[in-house]
Amino acid sequence: MTQLSRRHFLTVGAAGTAFAGLGLSPAFADMPDMPGWHLGYHTAPAGGFDPAPMRLVYGRAPAGLEGTLYRNGPAQFLYGEDDYASHWFDGDGMVQRIEISDGRAVHSGRFVDTVKRRIEQAEGRFMAPGFGTMGDPDYPVMGPDDVNAANTSVIVIDGELHALWEAGSAIAMDAKTLETKGPKTWRDDLAGMPFLAHPKTEPDGTVWNLAMNGPNVGVYQIAASGALTSFGVLNIGKAAYIHDWAMTERHLIIMVQPWINEALRPPVVEGFEWRPEEGFQFLIVDKDDFSNRRWVQGPARAFYHTGAAWAESDGTIRLDAALYRNPVLGPGGGVDEIRGKMPAREDRFVSDLTQIVLPVSGDAKLMETGLDGEFPQVDPRRHGLPRRLTALVAGQAETHPGATALSVHDWDSGRTDTFDFGPSRMVEEFLFVAKPGSQAEADSWLVGPVLNLKTGTSDICVFDAAHLSDGPVCIWRGERAWPLGFHGTWA
Ligand SMILES: [Fe+2]
Repeated sequence: MTQLSRRHFLTVGAAGTAFAGLGLSPAFADMPDMPGWHLGYHTAPAGGFDPAPMRLVYGRAPAGLEGTLYRNGPAQFLYGEDDYASHWFDGDGMVQRIEISDGRAVHSGRFVDTVKRRIEQAEGRFMAPGFGTMGDPDYPVMGPDDVNAANTSVIVIDGELHALWEAGSAIAMDAKTLETKGPKTWRDDLAGMPFLAHPKTEPDGTVWNLAMNGPNVGVYQIAASGALTSFGVLNIGKAAYIHDWAMTERHLIIMVQPWINEALRPPVVEGFEWRPEEGFQFLIVDKDDFSNRRWVQGPARAFYHTGAAWAESDGTIRLDAALYRNPVLGPGGGVDEIRGKMPAREDRFVSDLTQIVLPVSGDAKLMETGLDGEFPQVDPRRHGLPRRLTALVAGQAETHPGATALSVHDWDSGRTDTFDFGPSRMVEEFLFVAKPGSQAEADSWLVGPVLNLKTGTSDICVFDAAHLSDGPVCIWRGERAWPLGFHGTWA
């Protein structure tokens, strides 16, 4: 790994001194007992963040980088003095919006105005049951959207922004003002139907996504116009936890890990059962004919996230994912992080970026890279198509539970290019953004946020995907920090 070079350190550090007078953010200063990294898990202001310019503190803004980065993540962890939600994953979603135009970056952020948030804000306490929260027995639950935290990801379809969770509807928002419009109903009979936080978009804009309900999997196909093309249902035979999946040009790949939750009672996290003897099973489904399907068996692994899949001319399917030997819920289980407790080193989770090979006949094969990382991303121009590159966040610090590095793995050469920011940064998911007029995957920028623990700010960093270890092309620094998020999209 390439550590942050002294040259970069000095240059980035010198630029940072321009903001030294700001010190730590006011929110952080309010919690003196918390470690510095807790800034990433601090409750955001209820009114959100009004649009504010970020300052270019390093490098030059690349000509042609024009668009908006949207990100989503939990941002309400505290009511009153010490009333923490019991689980990070249950915090109300807040969408961060970073518009990059004409060399300038402007940040804004708004909570998703869900039913859950309205009720809890009015009461001034956590009430809804959730993934890791038992909830108040008197909290009214008529359907999934009454407990929808809308905190996991975002997608823009035909100009409309949607905040995504995994067990409830997509929540439509105004892409510019971040005003919440409400739950998205794709078809009248699908009101309240879950919409997974990992939809897949074909290069032509067609969106596919899943709806999980025990062993039943709903499949959405949505045109680039936003109109629902079809909705079908598959049965995978067991109530496996499915957070993400994969797709080629012709097939959906439902990845059935042996991590089962049949109860689905709050708190959901307590109902999981690991059954490694059942192995990791892959259901390959023809997009045009759901009855045309086959299973492939593999060794037991747990996973959250895939990069993407592709098919070779002989029908072999390849896909990449961050796999785990055992199920994990993040470094602190989603519980310790929000309480400022650093997980013990032996409790840190170790993934393995793996290429899963699904042959035309026979069992799945795992090609492990030994690269410990998460949030794998691919060039959206190549989603579902043969490709070389996967970007992911990597690197562990002794001093905080986040990632410190960004890596790009090349499946053709077997090489991994890495830039490590060092322990003073917490690195979030980076997205491929195509350079205008280019075709190759490497002709992309990688754009993402880095929480800077030295300056107490959230930074937006841009890398050249072909020269990652050279360091950032440019960095914009906000005057404030926003909580760490999960996933984003570029529009
Ligand atoms: Fe995810």
